[in-house]
Amino acid sequence: MARERTFVMVKPDGVQRGLIGEIVSRLEDRGFTMVAGKFMQIDDELAREHYAEHVDKPFFDDLTSFITAGPVFAMVWEGDDVTRQVRQMMGATDPAEAAPGTIRGDFAVDLGRNVIHGSDNEDPGANEREIELFFDSSELIEYERIDDSWLYE
Ligand code: RTP
Ligand code: MG
Repeated sequence: MARERTFVMVKPDGVQRGLIGEIVSRLEDRGFTMVAGKFMQIDDELAREHYAEHVDKPFFDDLTSFITAGPVFAMVWEGDDVTRQVRQMMGATDPAEAAPGTIRGDFAVDLGRNVIHGSDNEDPGANEREIELFFDSSELIEYERIDDSWLYE
């Protein structure tokens, strides 16, 4: 399994509800490595580009309004199979369908307020594209966790 990187973001509802630490903790506890993190406010242009795949959907305006409504915590996480495994940890898009134990299943109730974003593992290249959209390459820090050799065989 190859080491890869994925884009993860605590959405404005997650920030307002004090869930940054909880979400970072879950990803750290699992064994993934944070290689970038930025507390920021998304403007309309970035929101429209980030969610470009949904531009023709009826919920697009609500989605861009929501994601720009307050600060977010944008991150890049690294690990083997990290994109797919983070999506598993997030749970289903609609929290009503998200399994207990997942982030959305434990901390959210409404489709439009689902606390976390992670790159789509079924859209090839989405992770790299989103990382580039939110981060300059100089903001990504190359290092190894001290427990790396105990996390991977
Ligand atoms: P995200 O991109 O935000 O991480 O969520 P996702 O991959 O699980 O879901 P996606 O299909 O990319 O949808 C993006 C966000 O749009 C809202 N949504 N509303 N009203 C609707 O039918 C509908 N469908 C999606 C959700 O808030 C979802 O997170
Ligand atoms: Mg998505």
